[in-house]
Amino acid sequence: MNVLVTGGCGFIGSNLVRYLRRERPSWKVVNLDKLTYAGNLENLQDLEGDPNHVFVKGDIGNRELLDLIIRQHGIEAIFHLAAESHVDRSILGPEVFIQTNVLGTHVLLEAARAHQLKRFLMVSTDEVYGSLGPTGAFTESSPLRPSSPYSASKTSADLVTLAYHHTFGMDVVVTRCSNNYGPYQFPEKLIPLMIANALDDKPLPVYGDGGNVRDWLHVEDHCAALVLAMEKGKSGEVYNIGGGAERKNIEIVKAILAMLGKPESLIRFVQDRPGHDRRYAIDPSKIRSELGWKQARTFEDGLSQTIKWYVDHRSWWERVTSGAYRQYFETQYANRLKAA
Ligand code: NAD
Ligand code: TYD
Repeated sequence: MNVLVTGGCGFIGSNLVRYLRRERPSWKVVNLDKLTYAGNLENLQDLEGDPNHVFVKGDIGNRELLDLIIRQHGIEAIFHLAAESHVDRSILGPEVFIQTNVLGTHVLLEAARAHQLKRFLMVSTDEVYGSLGPTGAFTESSPLRPSSPYSASKTSADLVTLAYHHTFGMDVVVTRCSNNYGPYQFPEKLIPLMIANALDDKPLPVYGDGGNVRDWLHVEDHCAALVLAMEKGKSGEVYNIGGGAERKNIEIVKAILAMLGKPESLIRFVQDRPGHDRRYAIDPSKIRSELGWKQARTFEDGLSQTIKWYVDHRSWWERVTSGAYRQYFETQYANRLKAA
């Protein structure tokens, strides 16, 4: 099969491209990525010279480019991951989130429809459901109540994708996954940021009281679920993907410090994120029972492997966080600390 992966140089995308090359070696993988601050071709350095991985630098909103790629490479299906993905950035500047996540997804859907592709897999998020109270878990029929500009933009893309199934009969599958962690995650997200700061003995900024809960899944387990959804998912269906590993942020931060042998005095409670969702938890029983998905690792094993990866790949995270990013982070942190 010839597939297009959008956002294949980001965190999940680069892990997915590598997973596909390993697990589906006969597939040709075309990777379309704009290489924003979050996308690095270096993430796929080990695939250099691989004739079945083709990288194209470009925007998902460029219809002419999409037509060219689909025709030239005989694309049959799309894994759509390209997005602006960070909630904090969506609070500082929502516009690009609407541009890429909503309008960009629409251009991609139109291209997929025009070329009558076999399947469009929309990688959505559990954040479309909004925040949970202390009990319960999101199912595929939970109401959609996104809170941030990021999650609202993803909800729009998710719903427009489903509308293309209902209205035009397009073959689409939507997946809604919980928080991922693992190698190549940009250190603006909780786990890699805390590991990098702890390694440098810098303060670890915990928002609010640190009691917010996320449900963590290793990125490779997510990739396995995406391939199952592509190959076996039922058209027009939504599949929740979650790791069953609910943790408070403060528990994770303390676990990272303990694993690295660093003191808890590095923790700083800083101003909370506006509109901060309190708790996410995913019920993944549908993808388990209907598609046979199983996760391969526990959170504790995955976290310690991930910490080791960041210890061994200091040059990677130092490079991707230099320059403009460093400035963004220092300013964000100083403002939050002042306001706390
Ligand atoms: P990421 O920010 O690491 O990567 C996004 C990639 O998309 C980057 O390589 C970037 O260059 C590319 N991109 C951005 N705008 C583009 C555009 N206009 N055209 C082409 N490429 C563009 O994000 P991620 O964490 O890997 O997330 C991937 C997808 O998975 C996103 O759709 C996100 O909403 C979804 N998701 C992420 C998580 C998570 O925990 N990270 C959980 C559930 C769902
Ligand atoms: P994040 O990794 O940004 O993912 P998301 O907002 O999509 O869930 O944040 C995960 C949790 O960690 C969230 O509750 C916010 C919190 N957090 C901090 O406490 N400090 C930080 O510096 C960051 C980036 C996040």
